[in-house]
Amino acid sequence: MKRDVAIIGGGIIGCATAYYLAKQGASVILLERGRIGEQATGASAGMLAPIAEAKRPGAFLDVVVAALRDYPTAVREVEAASGVSTGYFLRSILRVAFSEEDEAKFALALPMYELAGLPHKRLDGAQAREEEPALGEGVVSAILSPEEGQVLPRQLVQSYRHAAGLLGAEFREDAEVMALETSGRSVTTVRTLDGSIDADRVVIAAGAWSSRFAGPLNTSIPVFPVRGQIAAIKGLSIPVRHVLYSYGGYAVPWPDGRLLVGATQEEAGYAPHTTVEGIQQVLNGGKRLVPRVADAELDETWAGLRPGSPDAMPILGPAPGWDNVWLATGHYRNGVLLGPYTSRLVAESMASNAVSAALEPFLVSRLAQ
Ligand code: GLY
Repeated sequence: MKRDVAIIGGGIIGCATAYYLAKQGASVILLERGRIGEQATGASAGMLAPIAEAKRPGAFLDVVVAALRDYPTAVREVEAASGVSTGYFLRSILRVAFSEEDEAKFALALPMYELAGLPHKRLDGAQAREEEPALGEGVVSAILSPEEGQVLPRQLVQSYRHAAGLLGAEFREDAEVMALETSGRSVTTVRTLDGSIDADRVVIAAGAWSSRFAGPLNTSIPVFPVRGQIAAIKGLSIPVRHVLYSYGGYAVPWPDGRLLVGATQEEAGYAPHTTVEGIQQVLNGGKRLVPRVADAELDETWAGLRPGSPDAMPILGPAPGWDNVWLATGHYRNGVLLGPYTSRLVAESMASNAVSAALEPFLVSRLAQ
């Protein structure tokens, strides 16, 4: 049976794209080489913190802020469609400084809050500890930003999967794509070990693995793996009420009572395992933010491979040289924040067969040498 669309990759981007395409009436099959949502999506702590990630005004700031603003609507829709909670809620973020050097970075961050129209308040160290008693004495000042967000990434991806499934999308796990068959400027067939799938269009949403398709398609997909290691702490003797973000790591309180501390940022190839040094680094970062982490129980550690891109922005839109291949990849540190929004934009552009203005800054052609 020929499908309208074959999506390669079952992280948040692939699953959300499957939903938005299925909602338009497309017949969709999604092929995931492992398990749905188990790579970068599953490794994410789920903070929706656009200002933590945007370093300057421009297209990236615009898209992360648009994605944050779109989140309540997007999750309401997918939760209603799937019956699966995403765990989304509005969360207050404290961005903390430990030094004058960090405070100098605040000077760059503050205008971003203004541009984003996000309320925020400058606090000195004592005020920051009053706001968040778990904070360490080393914090010299902070920016309190009450209207960012948090989500449970594994539930988010399942919510999209179920919503898409109810609209007829098919999901195959353990379905690694081995080859693409082509005719002229089109991919006609996606081959897995278990068989071949004919499709009118193909979406490459394979996260850190997306660049595997660059050679076979003789096109540029400059995505590379950036490992993030993370640790979950439980039994903290003092609750943490905000997402805590510093220039040396972050701490994210989860609704199950655990505190997630992360994350490393390593270009270490396709090696999605934890290391002694990496976990030490994130635990030290966590202890600096919340000294009581030292006495708490280390519950779990894990790692994931983010899909890095040369300018840290997503790569969205048609694959150059091909009439029916779309790229939805390179979301780097922001797949969970951006996924619901950019996947909808990609699906809408695919429906109209035209690149919407919102996608233009993210076309792969911007990265051409
Ligand atoms: N979004 C945070 C991270 O990737 O570590």
